[in-house]
Amino acid sequence: MAIKLMHAVQYDSYDGGPSGLKHVEVHIPTPKANEVLIKVEASSINPVDWKIQDGLLRYLLPRKFPFTPCTDVAGEVVDFGSQVKDFKVGDKVIAKLNNQDGGGLAEFAVASESLTTLRPSEVSAAEGAGLPVAGLAAHDAITKMAGIKLDRTGEPKNILVTAASGGVGVYAVQLAKLGNNHVTATCGARNIELIKSLGADEVLDYKTPEGASLKSPSGRKYDAVIHCTAGIPWSTFEPNLTENGIVVDLTPGPSSLMKYALKKLTFSKKLWVPFIVTIKREGLEHLAELVKDGKLKTIIDSKFPLGKAEYAWSKIIDGHATGKIIVEPSRVLF
Ligand SMILES: NC(=O)c1ccc[n+]([C@@H]2O[C@H](COP(=O)([O-])OP(=O)(O)OC[C@H]3O[C@@H](n4cnc5c(N)ncnc54)[C@H](OP(=O)(O)O)[C@@H]3O)[C@@H](O)[C@H]2O)c1
Repeated sequence: MAIKLMHAVQYDSYDGGPSGLKHVEVHIPTPKANEVLIKVEASSINPVDWKIQDGLLRYLLPRKFPFTPCTDVAGEVVDFGSQVKDFKVGDKVIAKLNNQDGGGLAEFAVASESLTTLRPSEVSAAEGAGLPVAGLAAHDAITKMAGIKLDRTGEPKNILVTAASGGVGVYAVQLAKLGNNHVTATCGARNIELIKSLGADEVLDYKTPEGASLKSPSGRKYDAVIHCTAGIPWSTFEPNLTENGIVVDLTPGPSSLMKYALKKLTFSKKLWVPFIVTIKREGLEHLAELVKDGKLKTIIDSKFPLGKAEYAWSKIIDGHATGKIIVEPSRVLF
């Protein structure tokens, strides 16, 4: 390959925030035997990316500095290792990069073949890049934790999605509706119409007393809550749950684990379940198919060129994105 250096955005210590990001020229990575080299067309940022810089997993992640953050990318295969069987140069793909090495905020990235899937031509790079962590977290929380069957063969349930306007929530609302459920959602006033347009039956403004109570306006109790924000106590959820209702907590921390243990120890039928997504290629394939078939949309909050990645970083830290924040390495400056 003629070009040997690429533009990347890295940080070299914890706690630096947006001003800790540095624009550098580094070597284009070489794919290992089981990896593809991707020319990145779009990369999406998840809250965990800035939380890792902030020290959430200090001494575990990043494995070393300097570190190129972000793991969710879409682009084109430009090279591959000797054991790669399913991809060829020129394939458009979606991939989840490994958490140890990151690499998404760069012009090129290497991904394991096992966490890469073909991207249908109907799915744009930005739409594809939004899918891995946020899309699969929503998908698995809805299907594996809440027990919803997307082919509508299950009994309809009442589902609450909190922070429905966020990267995960917008997918969760759509997937819950795809499975033929009644969906109540919470978000800020400015996003109520958007969340209704994604199919939610009832939408509560979380800044009002009604929204803060999480009560369904139609009086329904929830079979499952896909809980995509933090800071809401069990005592608020408890009266709103059905007898066997569960809260699937997507931001699990020590207090979440305590709540889980307490409910189990007291034989409570209502449960609090901490949840962390595991990315699998089949899941990525399935989500890409749903987007291709028009059954799932990636809502894009904003797009930034790689040269302005620190603005995207500030935006994810602010916590007010509507859908996904995308960085496009093909647009280095403008
Ligand atoms: N466990 C897992 O596997 C997993 C996977 C992915 C993400 N996550 C976690 O899940 C959480 C959500 O991720 P995300 O990507 O969806 O975040 P995000 O995109 O940053 O969420 C931002 C949105 O949340 C809304 N919001 C904030 N607080 C709210 C509240 N109390 N009630 C209702 N809406 C609220 C904001 O609305 P306003 O702007 O109107 O305030 C904004 O639209 C993060 O903590 C993330 O780390 C976990």
